[in-house]
Amino acid sequence: MSAFLLMTTVYSITGNSEAADTPVVSFSPNWKKIFVYESVTITCNVQAPGAHWFYWYKDNRKLHTNNQSFTIEFADEMNAGNYQCKTNQTQRSRPAKMSVLGGWVILQAPLLICEGDVLFLKCHSFPGRNARNTTFSLDGKWLSFLEDKIQVGKLNGTGTETYKCRKEVYYNSRYHSHTDTTTVNVTELFSEPEIKVDPILPTVGTAVTLTCDLDLCPLRVDTELHFVFYKDGQKLREFGLSNKYQINTAGPADSGNYTCEAKTRDNHIKKTSKMVHLQIEKSLIFLASVLVAALLTILIPTVIIFNYRRHFPQLRGNFPLHFSDNPSCSSSAWKANLSSLMSSSCCMFGLRLPNSKGYRSWYPRHPFPLNQEVFVPTQRRRHKQ
Ligand SMILES: *[C@@H]1O[C@H](CO)[C@@H](O)[C@H](O)[C@H]1NC(C)=O
Ligand SMILES: *[C@@H]1O[C@H](CO)[C@@H](O)[C@H](O)[C@H]1NC(C)=O
Ligand SMILES: *[C@@H]1O[C@H](CO)[C@@H](O)[C@H](O)[C@H]1NC(C)=O
Ligand SMILES: *[C@@H]1O[C@H](CO)[C@@H](O)[C@H](O)[C@H]1NC(C)=O
Ligand SMILES: *[C@@H]1O[C@H](CO)[C@@H](O)[C@H](O)[C@H]1NC(C)=O
Ligand SMILES: *[C@@H]1O[C@H](CO)[C@@H](O)[C@H](O)[C@H]1NC(C)=O
Repeated sequence: MSAFLLMTTVYSITGNSEAADTPVVSFSPNWKKIFVYESVTITCNVQAPGAHWFYWYKDNRKLHTNNQSFTIEFADEMNAGNYQCKTNQTQRSRPAKMSVLGGWVILQAPLLICEGDVLFLKCHSFPGRNARNTTFSLDGKWLSFLEDKIQVGKLNGTGTETYKCRKEVYYNSRYHSHTDTTTVNVTELFSEPEIKVDPILPTVGTAVTLTCDLDLCPLRVDTELHFVFYKDGQKLREFGLSNKYQINTAGPADSGNYTCEAKTRDNHIKKTSKMVHLQIEKSLIFLASVLVAALLTILIPTVIIFNYRRHFPQLRGNFPLHFSDNPSCSSSAWKANLSSLMSSSCCMFGLRLPNSKGYRSWYPRHPFPLNQEVFVPTQRRRHKQ
């Protein structure tokens, strides 16, 4: 039972705390493709509070700026690549890919799109050129638009979606039709929640906090989410803004299977955690003694057997009894008058135990009077077999 509790607890405290500390690179304007000569500002967004010192990387090579953001005024193809940032308090962000292209038409889409976002796309033609007839391919149908920039609508699921646009651009004395394609990768708004239990080993009488922990889509940390907790399928309280549930004074009745659920305010996205089994133990001392008892049950017999084998390997055989030099204590005297020998304190005897070089050692170390109880000391093994 303790093992099960420990396993559940260890499971419930291993979560993903990486996301909160990782910065996110964003582009402004928020397009992941631009034309050459256009301008873009690249920013390192950090959540962790405090003073940060910024480091920038492009295609894994360090850039010479320590600002939180920097602007490329007139982009050229050399500025295309994967941008990453980190600070002296965070790890490195994921790469943000910027494309800088020549050509006549590009279909622009945001770098980062989360489930539930309203998606805007722009069918962008080379600045300064006349253009007409903008059409977008949505759900496999070509639709005409007056504007370059359209609102696709709310993205309901996650996954990858491919969009196309076509536009006519005027050069060399006439209009030429050009098409571009873009892939939009929709990230889930929030991950499946996970219940974390604090303290790790909840005991009777203590306060226990359950946290419904999840990772939000990058740059959506302000999303309003509502949380609810269930115990053995019963709702513990209504949906609320707090992702914590507090048991003020835990008792054995609070043991059970807990789940939590997170949802957006408009109910569009709802996710439930895996079940966590909470076992409220009597006390930490009780738990510790269970563990100690379990250990001792295994350890004590092992130690006893081991020591027995270590100290008394030779005592399993028959060995001659040796008497001290006093003639009244000889073997014959022993046979003649056992009782008088027993009462005398001058007769010494002991076992002479074998070792590799023959019978040598007294065991016990000194012969002892017959009228004393034989005490076999536990001392270091002197004999090897
Ligand atoms: C990070 O750098 C800033 C600016 O130099 C400094 O104020 C801050 O103490 C640094 N923080 C850490 C954790 O080193
Ligand atoms: C960094 O910021 C400083 C002060 O705002 C500015 O003078 C400098 O030009 C910036 N450097 C870059 C590379 O943007
Ligand atoms: C583009 O627009 C012109 C004028 O509005 C029209 O005549 C032409 O058919 C259009 N071309 C396409 C391919 O839609
Ligand atoms: C998403 O769902 C809403 C309502 O369910 C619908 O009006 C909208 O068109 C959907 N958006 C997309 C891009 O499919
Ligand atoms: C789309 O997102 C998934 C999961 O975040 C990722 O594994 C995949 O590489 C992404 N695809 C593209 C084209 O960015
Ligand atoms: C909790 O879940 C475990 C494993 O699924 C199940 O064996 C047990 O009966 C559940 N306990 C309650 C009170 O529902």
